[in-house]
Amino acid sequence: MSRETEANIYSQAFIAELFDEMSQTYDRVNHITSLGFSSRWRNQCASHLAHRPDAVIFDLMTGMGECWPSLLPGLTSGHIVAIDFSAGMLSHAQARKTKLDTERVQIQQADVFANAFPEASADHIICTFGLKTLRPGQIAQLGVEIARLLKPGGTYSIVEISVPRVPLLRGLYLFYLKRVIPLMGQLFLGNPDNYRMLGVYTERFGDCSAAVERFRACGLSAMYHSYFFGCATGLTGKAPDSTTCDPARSQTTRLAASPVSMK
Ligand SMILES: C[S@@+](CC[C@H](N)C(=O)[O-])C[C@H]1O[C@@H](n2cnc3c(N)ncnc32)[C@H](O)[C@@H]1O
Repeated sequence: MSRETEANIYSQAFIAELFDEMSQTYDRVNHITSLGFSSRWRNQCASHLAHRPDAVIFDLMTGMGECWPSLLPGLTSGHIVAIDFSAGMLSHAQARKTKLDTERVQIQQADVFANAFPEASADHIICTFGLKTLRPGQIAQLGVEIARLLKPGGTYSIVEISVPRVPLLRGLYLFYLKRVIPLMGQLFLGNPDNYRMLGVYTERFGDCSAAVERFRACGLSAMYHSYFFGCATGLTGKAPDSTTCDPARSQTTRLAASPVSMK
């Protein structure tokens, strides 16, 4: 995918196509290029939820369901609602569900910003590595949507690959993201452009710090986390015991499309 322009790299069509194309190799390349850190960060992100056995957990931007192994143990009567708009990624998520032989996952093909779930549907919300492809204004919109979907007192946890602030580490990490990972992507996929885009999105994203105030403005509590010297950052927090997010704003984010259930 080398036809990106400034204007379209944040469009749903561009991002869905990017991940559709990467879906053949994403899990392997992601695991290898992160030297195993991505799995560790998903586990750490999930551990903040401390979910009950009957919890309903929304996994926003689920991809291939990479964080389900961190969520399913102990979820004996609850379930995961896994949402993504990339059909390619979701076909692998479906294969993972079949392999796990679990009824505790419902897969929904939908845009997170145009889902049809009613408010207060989730006990917990997780989002692993889904923030970087959001344009800056959508981070606040995600806070609105999380505040809308969470039950009063429900918790959320987010993690994203980030650009470390220590100058030497920052330089090395950006070189790795922008030069080494595309080469590794080429080895597996024959197309370095897609994996190069992940570096572009990450550099523009920076880290989760800007999301703190935006999420707090939605009435969510928000605590910033740094993982491995800032190579990943995250956000955890809680919905208020009664909803304080501006309902006029939340109306703009819902019911634009019906999700397609993939079981
Ligand atoms: C980098 S992958 C992360 C996948 C997985 N959560 C993980 O831990 O590796 C990002 C995923 O977010 C999805 N995505 C991005 N924006 C989305 C949106 N607005 N609605 C639904 N899915 C979205 C993409 O299709 C892609 O599968």
